[in-house]
Amino acid sequence: MRQLMRTTGQLAVAGGALLAYAYLETKLFTVRHVTVPLLAAGQDNIRILHLSDLHATPHQGRKLAWINSLAQWEPDLVVNTGDTLAHQDAVEPVLAALQPLMDSRPGVFVLGSNDFWAPHLKNPARYLLPDARVKSVSRKPLPWQDMVDFFTQAGWMDADNARGPVQLRDGRVLSIVGTNDAHLDLDRMPGRPPGASPQGATVPDAVAHLGVTHAPYLRVFEAFKADGVQLAIAGHTHGGQLRIPGFGALVTNCDLDRRRASGLHGWPGARPDSPLGRDSMWLHVCAGAGTSPYTPVRFACRPEAVLVTLTQGVSSIDTAQDSRN
Ligand SMILES: [Fe+2]
Repeated sequence: MRQLMRTTGQLAVAGGALLAYAYLETKLFTVRHVTVPLLAAGQDNIRILHLSDLHATPHQGRKLAWINSLAQWEPDLVVNTGDTLAHQDAVEPVLAALQPLMDSRPGVFVLGSNDFWAPHLKNPARYLLPDARVKSVSRKPLPWQDMVDFFTQAGWMDADNARGPVQLRDGRVLSIVGTNDAHLDLDRMPGRPPGASPQGATVPDAVAHLGVTHAPYLRVFEAFKADGVQLAIAGHTHGGQLRIPGFGALVTNCDLDRRRASGLHGWPGARPDSPLGRDSMWLHVCAGAGTSPYTPVRFACRPEAVLVTLTQGVSSIDTAQDSRN
């Protein structure tokens, strides 16, 4: 009996320590770096700062200061794949944190379900289902339209079910196509303009054709692939949020396989820089920088922003680097 009590006590202490660490990890913000060789020969690199799933509230001083510091990386483009908000009063502080980027850098954004609806308490066990797409939104709307207005006034492109050009400061142009959040069935792939070729960039002289979405559902990637997208960029998964070292994410919260819960991969198959992946597009999933306020834990999955550097040379098989692959 005494042995049982001692073991129970030890397990309780270990569980408490794990929980305390998992809470601490939500504040261990990091910038991950990844290189994607998809530009034509002779093109200079393009640095994309990929932000996702900030889940900002007004009281997250440390996170907001970190977001504010990201302009120091001097990206050529910011891509924000949604779930920026997690509180009724989050718009002003998160926009203040993003101001240095909005003031000086072109951007592209899409919205996620958590931009529309305030977070609420859910049964944590539902998260372990393969696709926990229960329409359990709180029905307490968030002021996402205010955020959209500020982003667009800053010149950032709203890529929700839209396509168009984004011009970099050096004059080069990227072709963008995007969808609204597939997790809420809001995704509608925009049509191609009359006269455009069946696949590829729909913008004259574009140096790359990128797809942007919040939730990495397979039907969105199928549409992007058919559109000739070279690199699909998504968030939503939180990288699994709780990862088991040596095993990885338990879930993706969508129909993407858990092996691709975050990081740089090929889709549908091997990476395009592999001899087997010539018919694949690139896929980058950001693990995001936040959590729901009701589940403030991450394990083996640090909150992140990602500096995605596009480089020339699909033939440079060994140039892609991703610390998580
Ligand atoms: Fe999220």
